[in-house]
Amino acid sequence: MRQRIVAGNWKMNLTVKEGLKLAEDLQKLLSSNTIYYSDTTFILAPSFLHLLSLKEISDRSVFVLAAQNISDKEKGAFTGEVSAAMLASAEIKYAIIGHSERRLLFHESNEMLKSKINLAIANQISPIFCCGEPLDVRENNTEMDFVLRQLDESLFHLEEAQIKNVIIAYEPIWAIGTGQTATPEQAEEMHRFIRTKVEQKYSPETAEAISILYGGSVNPKTANSLFSQQNIDGALVGGASLVAEDFFKIMMDII
Ligand code: PGA
Repeated sequence: MRQRIVAGNWKMNLTVKEGLKLAEDLQKLLSSNTIYYSDTTFILAPSFLHLLSLKEISDRSVFVLAAQNISDKEKGAFTGEVSAAMLASAEIKYAIIGHSERRLLFHESNEMLKSKINLAIANQISPIFCCGEPLDVRENNTEMDFVLRQLDESLFHLEEAQIKNVIIAYEPIWAIGTGQTATPEQAEEMHRFIRTKVEQKYSPETAEAISILYGGSVNPKTANSLFSQQNIDGALVGGASLVAEDFFKIMMDII
């Protein structure tokens, strides 16, 4: 059975104190809820700086922590980078890899992302691999080819046992931070396409086991209709994850 997942991407927001407050507020909201979350995973992806300060709250809550990025290098003279092994040593179990902001603003290529995926897997970190097309690609109706290329060049070299540890996040770039959520039908169409490609490359069992999240302006109003789609297993949430009540509402919608 695939995991239902709601992940919050804080991006470069919040001071340490503000991050602690938000996590504490979420913990309080979650602890007031008595539902058992066996097939549901809640993830917070704060900056590297917050990861250790949030560890104690995470240990006594139902949410786990993710890094927003990892280095494509193993170790050495790479000033400013954080390696997969460092994150593993801090017991971080997830990392967002290939977010469109990293691809566009920091020029991360599919090849570089392949190295990041390999290092994450080698260090028992589950990648949350982001893919998704820019607006002009969608307007040309070539979004499927575009996304398939991202999967082919960064992910589909993995062996079957390895890809089972990957979470895929479909995030159309035109929907990120714009308030323009993809319609449930648009998102479902792409999610079904991605799952079919996983099935063709690996097997029906693996396609059925992989969680595919939608990201791009998910908010408390849009989450429910997205989650009701057959191939949408959750969300990667940016802006709305910075407001405890909004993020909590989205988390409850997945249950
Ligand atoms: P958004 O960001 O929810 O603010 O659109 C999503 C993301 O970038 O993961």
